[in-house]
Amino acid sequence: MPHSATRPEPAERVQVPAHVAIIMDGNGRWARARGLPRIEGHRRGVETVRTVTNAARELGIRMLTLYAFSVENWQRPKDEVGALMGLLEFYLKKELQTFVQDRVRLRTIGRIDDLPAGVQKHLRHTIAETAQFTDYTLVLALNYGSRTEVVDAAHAYAAAVAAGQAKLNDRSWSTFSRYLSTDGLPDPDLIIRTSGETRLSNFLLLQGAYAELVFTPVLWPDFTKADLADACAEYARRERRYGLTSEQVKPASPATP
Ligand code: FPP
Repeated sequence: MPHSATRPEPAERVQVPAHVAIIMDGNGRWARARGLPRIEGHRRGVETVRTVTNAARELGIRMLTLYAFSVENWQRPKDEVGALMGLLEFYLKKELQTFVQDRVRLRTIGRIDDLPAGVQKHLRHTIAETAQFTDYTLVLALNYGSRTEVVDAAHAYAAAVAAGQAKLNDRSWSTFSRYLSTDGLPDPDLIIRTSGETRLSNFLLLQGAYAELVFTPVLWPDFTKADLADACAEYARRERRYGLTSEQVKPASPATP
């Protein structure tokens, strides 16, 4: 066998997505498969949040956005919503030290003002305590949905125009996007959804316009660092063209001698 056959292919070059967003799905099915209440699935899901936040840092992913609670999730049974809010508060209390130690900045997207007061208090505290960190950012999407986000942005933009602070005829994405709750955050490069579902479910619909999508059958409580690495490897194999041709985006090949 020629020696070169054992060398890694150039296609295996490491190209880590800077911003990964995840639709964490399958907690309920994970619990049902074990004859456990749904909330046990969510509890295990919180463990996976910890694992994956660490794994992302170790893999060199600088920003991670997690879809933790959608605007539609309020319609779930009252005890499940209450349990999810309780878990969120518990998680924030417990993780603050780790965020500070690992220099992870916390941010949120979504209508935070409608969350229970206790959750809001811990969110604001954690955000303030981690605001100075710049290397890694964890973004929690809470009471988030793209459609409400667009409605809120249009409302805020209209108010700014009425107040003479924005120009009606600007009509640029760079201006409009400043009114979205993701203002200041880069668009996601990769969106992963677990549990075999292949939908975006109102998650980062505008920001994900050019994101690569990876769907995995793994249920969120079972999702591991290896699964995240696999999704990143799949991302690295994709060619991102942003509406251009393959020839336009390919790096120029070195001149042959
Ligand atoms: C979807 O699974 C998951 C959710 C709606 C909630 C996600 C929440 C967590 C992982 C825990 C809280 C998060 C943090 C950041 C502390 P599902 O319940 O829809 O699963 P199913 O489709 O199998 O029923």
